[in-house]
Amino acid sequence: MQLFLDTADYQSIKKLYETGIVDGITTNPTNLRKDGANPKEAIKKICELMQGKPVSVQVTESDLDAIYAQAQEIATISDNVVVKIPCYQPYYPVIQKLLGQNVPLNITLVFSLPQALAMCKLGATYISPFLGRWDDIDADTSALLAEIVDMKNEYDFGTKVLAASLRDVPSVHQAINAGSDVATISPALFEKMLKHPLTEQGMEKFSQDWNKLGISQFP
Ligand code: E4P
Repeated sequence: MQLFLDTADYQSIKKLYETGIVDGITTNPTNLRKDGANPKEAIKKICELMQGKPVSVQVTESDLDAIYAQAQEIATISDNVVVKIPCYQPYYPVIQKLLGQNVPLNITLVFSLPQALAMCKLGATYISPFLGRWDDIDADTSALLAEIVDMKNEYDFGTKVLAASLRDVPSVHQAINAGSDVATISPALFEKMLKHPLTEQGMEKFSQDWNKLGISQFP
């Protein structure tokens, strides 16, 4: 299973990349706005840091021809860019055309099993079910992710399932259990999920006991 960071914040990416467990990045217009820098330059810098690992960058146009042209342009920013396009039915022809030209796509804003099936049939590189946003409006997404993974495996689609919009550690736990290919996680949640109070308590106890020995050099 791969772990992506869901952010456009270069410093957070740099810090967490050093953990050795970050396999890619997802950005969106919201987190690029937060960063406040020139989006193209920000993406270039992130792509360079990620050394060939996938960096998703979302289209911002809404007209079909403009989306097509923008997606192609985004794909030229770097070899590791994956273009993000919303799972919106009028966009299907553009999605099909770009995939036909081997432009890697991350289909974003997926909320249902039929949407996921449609994108697998078109050969999407990634599909991103947004679990947290569904949960936010009182839907139960606990089964949805597992259903999408099962559907993909059952019909042997090559698309990768990318669990997105994760709000808390139990959601990450759920994505791992569901067999998701990837989970994209905000830097704050990423740090939180790697901490455990019993690890910290255990370290403290070992340290105290060892200090009681009063040995200055070991071994
Ligand atoms: C992933 O690609 C999305 O950018 C992200 O997970 C959205 O998360 P949000 O619902 O917290 O904005």
